Amino acid sequence: MEIALQNKIALVTAASKGLGFSVARELLREGARVMLSSSNQANLQAASEKLKEEGLSEHATHVADLSDTKQIENLISATLKKFDGIDLLFTNCGGPPAGASLELTDDQWHAAFETVFLSVVRLCRLCVPEMRKRGGGAILTLTSSTVKQPIENLTVSNALRPAIVGFCKTLSKEVATENIRVNVIAPGRILTARTQELDEAFAARTNKSIDEVRRESEEEIPMKRLGDVDEFASTAAFLLSGKASYITGQILLVDGGRVEGIW
Ligand SMILES: NC(=O)c1ccc[n+]([C@@H]2O[C@H](COP(=O)([O-])OP(=O)(O)OC[C@H]3O[C@@H](n4cnc5c(N)ncnc54)[C@H](OP(=O)(O)O)[C@@H]3O)[C@@H](O)[C@H]2O)c1
Repeated sequence: MEIALQNKIALVTAASKGLGFSVARELLREGARVMLSSSNQANLQAASEKLKEEGLSEHATHVADLSDTKQIENLISATLKKFDGIDLLFTNCGGPPAGASLELTDDQWHAAFETVFLSVVRLCRLCVPEMRKRGGGAILTLTSSTVKQPIENLTVSNALRPAIVGFCKTLSKEVATENIRVNVIAPGRILTARTQELDEAFAARTNKSIDEVRRESEEEIPMKRLGDVDEFASTAAFLLSGKASYITGQILLVDGGRVEGIW
């Protein structure tokens, strides 16, 4: 299916690695021009070189730490300066700290609220006016399958990511008549370097082999395998494209059927 993103300008945050990078790459493959952002210049440089090696040169990079409102403002200014508009926004952030419900400190909660939740609000606040100027746009926010089914010890994700869903649903109704769609994409377990690191750490903690840990993880998934970043990215690109023109205010799980539940 051609999803035709030619001439679209996209901003992807937390895009130097993993899921964010895969989405930026997919949007580029589909013809969009993309601003990739993350908090680390060297990582962005490496991501940019990788894209250029694949012939995907219609992109730029800008360093912005999502915990800092000023840096988010600068990111939007840099995107507008480079590309002269924003049609598509994909929001992503680094994973919040793990921890049991009563063990996390106030400082950890405040910090996670800034990066996980408020960064989405701030990005939308700044991008929606730009989309209005262009007669429409699409926003897709990465959360996690925790918005449907909490995961043990991921208290911050379990608590703050559903708040993003509430925000996005509310915004989707407010901008629906302006040809701006707002959706949420919720990955289950997709294989990235971070997934690999987490599994290795878990294997070390529990005296298991990495293969054992991976097998147990796959066993919980009806499709019996982790997702591939390209499978995630193609779903994200579809939701951001005009092919999804009547889809707004929704959460789409990309989880191989892992979440138990019918809603
Ligand atoms: N992979 C999965 O299966 C899965 C499942 C559910 C949810 N998630 C969530 O999806 C998100 C991405 O996961 P991933 O597996 O792709 O992780 P990843 O490979 O570790 O990528 C995280 C990205 O976030 C960026 N980042 C970290 N802190 C940042 C900050 N303060 N400001 C801006 N960018 C920042 C990193 O870039 P720099 O270091 O260059 O800043 C990197 O590009 C995470 O929130 C994760 O919890 C992932």
